[in-house]
Order: sequence, then structure tokens, then C-alpha cells
Amino acid sequence: MDRITKDKLVSDYKKIFFNKFKTYPGIISIAPGRVNIIGEHTDYNFGLAIPTAINKWIITMISDRNDNQFNIHSVNYDKMISFSLNDLTKSDELWEKYIKSTIHIVNKKYKLNNGFDMLIGGNIPIGFGMSSSAALEVSIVSAILDKYCDKYDQYEILKICNVVEKEILGIQSGILDQYASIFSKNKKFLLIDFNSNTHEYFDSNIKNCSWVLVNSMISRDLVSSDYNIRVLECNEGLDLINKLKNEKTSFNKLSLDDIELVKKNKKLYCRLLHFYYENKRVRSMKKEISDGNKYNVGQLLLESHFSLSKRYEVSCREIDTIISMSKKHPGFYGGRIMGGGFGGCTINLVENNLKKDFISYIKNEFYKKFEYNIKVEEVFFSEGLDVLTDL
Ligand code: GLA
Repeated sequence: MDRITKDKLVSDYKKIFFNKFKTYPGIISIAPGRVNIIGEHTDYNFGLAIPTAINKWIITMISDRNDNQFNIHSVNYDKMISFSLNDLTKSDELWEKYIKSTIHIVNKKYKLNNGFDMLIGGNIPIGFGMSSSAALEVSIVSAILDKYCDKYDQYEILKICNVVEKEILGIQSGILDQYASIFSKNKKFLLIDFNSNTHEYFDSNIKNCSWVLVNSMISRDLVSSDYNIRVLECNEGLDLINKLKNEKTSFNKLSLDDIELVKKNKKLYCRLLHFYYENKRVRSMKKEISDGNKYNVGQLLLESHFSLSKRYEVSCREIDTIISMSKKHPGFYGGRIMGGGFGGCTINLVENNLKKDFISYIKNEFYKKFEYNIKVEEVFFSEGLDVLTDL
């Protein structure tokens, strides 16, 4: 993983900002990507998860303008777009759509009364489950709110990002990624309860291990994946249970007996079983990480992977192969597919003194089977959202 620091990225981007706009930014918002240790496909059903921010960021820089023009420079695409509030809906490319729709949604609520120059860039790989798009939304929204709003809380950022995802991008997603990007604390694990939208932090006592990401290089965007279908299937399952019981229960109150009621519908049954047991695994994971029990942490990761692959059906051949290959390595405690799925990365717990060996082993074995190179890198945790003002 490239180890460029946040400070270096900010100082590089400030220079680019000056080159493009001949002034320095007044607000800098730095939103990290995230990994999710466990609790996958639980957020939109008001379940639990343990994500944490990583040392890769999307940075938004803004300076005021006196007119109604918005000039946005993307460092990653090396492209500048300019528009006014009247043409916020037309976008040629996806990154433009993200930016314009985010500005559009903020404008609907907070009436942006003048334009700005903005620079956006970052080092989160796009489309591999590390939440580059969520970090993009969080950094833009927080930068704009900081500029236009005297008082706002971090839940407001979450709400706006979720509207962008649902109404504009058409993804029926939960708020896991944005939550982690905003609320993570360095070196802490974050347990989120999406039923109450509350969280707690806890420490890891796992010794001599690293978290390693194996990137299958298969990129699937959530819009075109079966993500929305999974959301619908879970709701269908819950509706069916409610109908059969003739009462109204919610996801977080579902018991195994309830789920047994839909056993005849294998698909819905499996989806709900995943949800039920994944939440249990989140609770157990908190205990095992706190107790420093790396064997049990590894087992929970593998159980989660099995469930995501077989019950929730959000894995793919390449990822399943990565997990089977990893299991044969002596330094590997456990791992699982991470994020929305259908490609992307696995997150793995690996013994430190066998880490190098694990990395070259998995790269070589994968290449032998699929004949293309994958990326494998240790992941480092970081602090959540940082908004710099008074620069
Ligand atoms: C994506 C979504 C999240 C969450 C995960 C699966 O990352 O954006 O809201 O549903 O998938 O856990």
C-alpha cells in the first residue's frame, strides 16, 4: 500500500490548487476510505458492523468566488469542469455525476448563494470496496456545509450522502461507509449499531498480526451489481414473515424461529440467515478482538466469508479462490470478502513474521491460476474526517 501521508497529500494538492486557481483554499476536508472488519450487508437492515478508516483519503479544497460559477478540478482525472447552479443535472462521466449531484442535494437544502473553486483528489482505489465514492461524498458535503452552514452536526453529512446515493445514484445503500469515514478514531475499532445510529470504540489486543487486503482487481460498481436486489430480497423476506405471523416485526427483532417460517423459499431464507448470524458474529468479533484471540478472529472472518459467498451470494470465483488459497498458508488466520462484494478485496488477518511470505505466495498462486497480477497490501488504520479551516 502506498504510504503517502495525509500531510504530504494535502501539501501536494495545495500546490495544485494554487496552480489552477491562483489562490489558496479556505477549507480543506479530508475523508478517509474504510475497511470493514465484519458486519457485511447488515447496515441497510439496521444491523451491526465493525469498520474503521484507513490511511487513504479523498480531499476536497474550496475557495470562495464572487460569482455563481463552480469550477471543479479533479486531480485524479486531470480535468476541470465548470458549471452554474442551473446545469447541475447534466454530467458526462460518473465522477462528474457524483460531484454535481452532491452539490445539487446540498443546494436544495442550504441554497448556495455563490459559487466556488474546488479541487478534488485522493488515493483511494476506485471500485474495490474501500469506499472511494463514500469518502468523495463525505469530503464534498462536509467542505460545503462548513462553508455555507454556521452549525451542522456530523449526522447531517450522513443524511445528505445517503440522499445522494439513493435519489441520484440509485443505490439503496446503507450508511456504513460514510459513517466509518466520518466517525473513525485512529487505532480504535468502531462498532456501529445502525438501528440507533450510535457507535462505540474499542481497542484491539491482537498481537503480532497485520490486516492485509488482497485486491482481486475485479471492479464492480454497486449500481450495476445485484446490491439493490439483495436489499429487496431481505425486505421481501421480512414482509413474508410479517404476513405469516400476522404482526409487524423489524429486522433487528428477527429470531431464528421467525426465519424458519420462510424456509420453503430457500433464497429469502438464506439471505435472512446471513443477516441474523452476521450480527452475532459482529458481537463475538468485538470480544475476540478485545481479548486478542487471533484464532477466533480468523474463524469468524471465515464464517462470514462462507455466509457471504453461499448464503448471500455476493462473492465471485476469483475471490472464493483467494480465500481457499489463503487457507493453505501457515500465516493466515482468516479472511473474507469485504464491502458490497461481487469483486473487490478480501480482508485478512495475517501473522507478522509470515506476512511477506503470505503476500508473495498469494500473488504467485493467483497468477498461476488466473494469469493476471493482483495487488496485496497491508492496511493501516487512520483517523476519521478532518475539516481544516482558518488556513
Ligand atoms: C457497500 C455499501 C454499504 C454496505 C456494504 C456492504 O459498501 O455502500 O452501505 O451495505 O456495501 O456491507
